[in-house]
Amino acid sequence: MNKDTEKYIWPGVISHYRSWIKIDAAAEPVTLLEGNTPLIRAANLARALGGEIELYLKYEGLNPSGSFKDRGMTAAITQAVADGAKAVICASTGNTAASAAAYAARAGLQCFVLVPEGKIAAGKMAGALAYGAQVINIQGSFDDGLAMVRRAAQESPIILVNSINPARMEGQKTAAFEICDVLGDAPDWLCLPVGNAGNITAYWMGFSEYYLAGLSRKTPQLLGVQAEGAAPIVRGSMVERPETVATAIRIGNPARWQDAVAALRDSKGHICAVSDAQIMEAYHLVAQSEGIFCEPSSAASLAGLKIQLQRGDLALQGKRIVCVLTGHGLKDPDSATATIAAPVVIAPRMQELWQVIGYKN
Ligand code: F0G
Repeated sequence: MNKDTEKYIWPGVISHYRSWIKIDAAAEPVTLLEGNTPLIRAANLARALGGEIELYLKYEGLNPSGSFKDRGMTAAITQAVADGAKAVICASTGNTAASAAAYAARAGLQCFVLVPEGKIAAGKMAGALAYGAQVINIQGSFDDGLAMVRRAAQESPIILVNSINPARMEGQKTAAFEICDVLGDAPDWLCLPVGNAGNITAYWMGFSEYYLAGLSRKTPQLLGVQAEGAAPIVRGSMVERPETVATAIRIGNPARWQDAVAALRDSKGHICAVSDAQIMEAYHLVAQSEGIFCEPSSAASLAGLKIQLQRGDLALQGKRIVCVLTGHGLKDPDSATATIAAPVVIAPRMQELWQVIGYKN
């Protein structure tokens, strides 16, 4: 390999940000070269949302297993291997399961994932199974699963890789670093969906650390978004039976609730809830105005931004705003096919084709 090419090769988030990542310093990274995801300017979408804003999308669906979870998982699995683990476990609404399964496969660890039966998107189940995890469907919610895996990790040598694991935060905060590195500063606002509240916690860590080190001139205000049927932080109380089309954030008792509240307070941010209809509208809008396909939960951040632009009580107009698109649309193909008109069917005859498309000379 020639020396010039070498410097363009991305080594994954641990190696790229090694001095910032508080895990075992000697550990050899277990990596799939996650991170370095595109920050895409979205002028069409900004107009469609009704904002005079400089809008960017951090397209985290382009990580190796299709979601932002890979950033934290590379760190958690690297640390688990350094600690001599043989097996890891997590509860998940789907993406953490697929990510844990992928990195565990890479590391040669056994992986157990607990998911709410019938409530995870097809692509996530497919991933977790394909990477060889032992998938356990529970007849309950994500929150039930989390309580069980906490116990399992306390009462066995199995390592918990949910975002309660501090190594997860160390990896996930690199998304904030990347945004600052690309923009040359933190944005004015960072807008993201909130489920178990690990991601909002990690972003705030990352932005704060860069600011304290003098690598950005400010920290962003955080706009967190929950689904109306699963909005414990917005309501200020646990949701016993969370329900939303955005299954990734179908969580009633987030593990990092208090950290999220602190991040929202310290960033002078805000958290709001959006309806399933608003989520699905935003989901179609970003795909059709920008050619970027994300899963419904990711679109919650856009739906939240839209309603806040309409309400006008946050200082958003004229600002530089980054929305995090946390997972790829292909994770959840059913959400697309169930909500968009089915393809037309024709016989293999030109006449029928012309009838559909018009345009003939
Ligand atoms: N977006 C997607 C696509 C997610 O999968 C999740 C969480 C979130 C947003 C919310 O992030 O939990 O850090 O606040 N998914 C977890 C999982 C719960 O099991 O995959 P959070």
